[in-house]
Amino acid sequence: MSQIARSSVRRGRGLAGLGLAGLGLISVLSCVTSGSRSGEKPAPVAEPHVSLFAPVVQGRSRASYIATAQHGMIATAHPLASAAGLAMLKQGGNAIDAAVAASFVISVVRPQSTGIGGGGFLLDYLAASRATEVYDFRERAPARATRTMYLDAHGVPKGSLYRGSLIPNASVNGPLAVGVPGIVKGLLEAQARRGRLPLKVVMQPAIDIAAHGFPVYAGLAKALHRCAAILKHFPGSVKVFFHNGQPLAEGDILVQKDLAWTLGQIAAKGADGFYKGEVARRIVAEMRRGDGIVSQTDLDLYKVRHPAPVTGFYRGYRIVSMPPPSSGGVHIIEIMHILAPENYGAMGFGTVRSVHWLAEAMRRAFADRAAYLGDPAFVAVPLKGLLSPAYGRKLHDSIDPAHATRSAALKPGRPMDYESPSTTHISVIDAWGNAVSTTQTINYTFGSCVVAEGTGIVLNDEMDDFAKKPGVPNAYGLVGSEANSIAARKTPLSSMSPTLVFDPQGHLELAVGSPGGPRIISATLQTILNVIDFKMPLADAVHATRIHNQWLPDRTQVEPGGLTPAVQAELTRMGHHIVVGSSIGDVQAVGYEGGHLVGVSDTRAEGKPEGY
Ligand code: DON
Repeated sequence: MSQIARSSVRRGRGLAGLGLAGLGLISVLSCVTSGSRSGEKPAPVAEPHVSLFAPVVQGRSRASYIATAQHGMIATAHPLASAAGLAMLKQGGNAIDAAVAASFVISVVRPQSTGIGGGGFLLDYLAASRATEVYDFRERAPARATRTMYLDAHGVPKGSLYRGSLIPNASVNGPLAVGVPGIVKGLLEAQARRGRLPLKVVMQPAIDIAAHGFPVYAGLAKALHRCAAILKHFPGSVKVFFHNGQPLAEGDILVQKDLAWTLGQIAAKGADGFYKGEVARRIVAEMRRGDGIVSQTDLDLYKVRHPAPVTGFYRGYRIVSMPPPSSGGVHIIEIMHILAPENYGAMGFGTVRSVHWLAEAMRRAFADRAAYLGDPAFVAVPLKGLLSPAYGRKLHDSIDPAHATRSAALKPGRPMDYESPSTTHISVIDAWGNAVSTTQTINYTFGSCVVAEGTGIVLNDEMDDFAKKPGVPNAYGLVGSEANSIAARKTPLSSMSPTLVFDPQGHLELAVGSPGGPRIISATLQTILNVIDFKMPLADAVHATRIHNQWLPDRTQVEPGGLTPAVQAELTRMGHHIVVGSSIGDVQAVGYEGGHLVGVSDTRAEGKPEGY
């Protein structure tokens, strides 16, 4: 039975009436060429402005990021992926069919963000049983991975060797950075268990777009330009992304014949079309051209895992999210528990008090992330404690309402900053009220930058999400501990946070998630807080500006235009190190509002919701 008739009550006015003056294009930083960017100067403080919305991509209106419908809705980071998902819903497919079709298309049209050489997480909500099933198809460390594999004889992070060239930063660039991919097994398992349409139908849009091509858009052209110096080391990558020695530019048509062939193998043979046979042989051959260690045995042994989701309550709403090996769900709930004793909504959006409390709550949760989170198959994560409202209360009580806590007083660390246009999120709700919330990635922009020759597959660099050395930050500035050290077949810690929100009556209200490395947690959290505490319509909740504090470095990042100069000055006086940086996240959300479905893509990038 359709749940559309149920009206989701929305209270208050949100930000809809505010203007959009002073907004420009989002900025994205380049590919990672060294392990640290700690010497970077913060961006200059934004000029006074009248809007608290994030920028809109050039040539688009804010309205083009919002859709309403009665039966089904999907929001993804590319219009072609949303169109494929919508086509599945319209021909009788369910949320899984739509999510799987969109995932394969996204892997073709956002090769800078994700792809079948990567991994991810998926929450599948079944309206009939009201159960949420979790798919963990994150990359795993190859069997030959070792704790010190990215350090040279002096214990210093080393470069990668590929056909005699030394490429900087082996945990990020080149074949040694590659973890065993999981997306194909994850998507196919979900489709086989729960899909209503044949796999071939669901995969056809991706195969067609790969074979016939699509126009390179500004965000992809920018990412190609920035990563060209690394990509050009790998002939497989040059063949796909370069023309006459130059990376493809905006408006060029990106045709991926090899990828179409690989997708065809999967459509015909199932997961064996990727993990065995010719495609697998070509992936392993690519490893051998450099210092890569993913073997046929690693591919053979890859398994999707099905942990229980993490759940928590916030002001009567039930939050269901991704458990370890993601830190996302744990810390979204932990931060909510820290905020719960405060009347956060009454503080107002973007005020000194609300930003102070949010930043302080984030600082504490991210300190816990560094100390305790890792693959639960290898380390005992103190989940019960981290998710306990009483523990949240204790952390709440440690916050000084008038002063920022020094991060060093919580635990020592090192500063740096990074933002990248990678990773992607897909949210779907179908006519039966089923929902899918899935976040997928190859990690940094173009992953390892290696396309396995003859396959079109961009291989991930997820191994960098491990702590390669205690105290050495990864490209997101995250420091880790023993809990996230490298070991054979272990899964690197993630921040990806596919999340579902249920209203106090137990009805599904929202499917939501984002890319953004550790900023995923902040972006997903703030979208939900904006809905629950600030009573914003979903569109405003997604488009409102965000902040991020990850404990170390000791700074609170705000988006350009996110704080008024007066609020920023007062927070600085209280001891916050405010840095105006680039945009935070690219949320894709679908929810119920006023008796219909609403889909919202973030104005920070190229996404689009589609419904019927
Ligand atoms: O799993 C994680 O947390 C990261 N590999 C996600 C990377 C990401 O979101 C990059 N996007 N900006």
